[in-house]
Amino acid sequence: MKSSNVIYHQASVTRQRRNKLNDHHSVVLWFTGLSGSGKSTLAHALEEKLFQKGCRTFVLDGDNIRHGLNSNLDFSEKSRTENIRRVSEVSKLMMESGLIVMTAFISPFNKDRDKARKLISSDDFIEIYCKASLETCESRDVKGLYRRARAGEITNYTGIDSPYEVPENPELTIDTDNQSLEGSVSTILSFLKSNGIIN
Ligand code: ADX
Repeated sequence: MKSSNVIYHQASVTRQRRNKLNDHHSVVLWFTGLSGSGKSTLAHALEEKLFQKGCRTFVLDGDNIRHGLNSNLDFSEKSRTENIRRVSEVSKLMMESGLIVMTAFISPFNKDRDKARKLISSDDFIEIYCKASLETCESRDVKGLYRRARAGEITNYTGIDSPYEVPENPELTIDTDNQSLEGSVSTILSFLKSNGIIN
């Protein structure tokens, strides 16, 4: 049930003031792609570079968040939608606090990513599609979950018996099949610089 009679309190320390203090803009970099497509690896490598440059950052990672905040959610469509809804809200709060937030979730459904974009605001939402073929992701199989999904031990596995909807208009597409990690990080850094997000 929605709570009523709750009035929003306006802070005097605003996002604009925080951004000025930090000397960079706060945004959400939304990584999406199949499991094993390199979302987390790329987000963490990018964070390392940004951190070294003195930026305030944080990575929200699907596997980690599903141990805590979202530990009550499974991989049904309904739960994935709720997973992304909560992560969108958390990302927005972190962005308001002045951080460059990087989210690494499969986020397989266009409608959920679109909702996140609307909530966060299109100007501040940078969708980064980590493009890798299912064959590549499955051959990497870092966690052994594709093998278990193929064996029928895990159901609703993205790419196997649950869909992944390719983003229609992402700000960036990173071909992790063919581009090196270093090259991918540089591509994103250049994008952030040319859009005035970082110096
Ligand atoms: S999402 O679809 O709701 O965005 P999320 O990114 O949080 O997924 O979690 C994906 C991670 O959970 C995968 O990287 C994988 O390690 C693990 N996982 C476990 N079961 C599944 C499943 N059925 N489908 C996809 N990923 C799964």
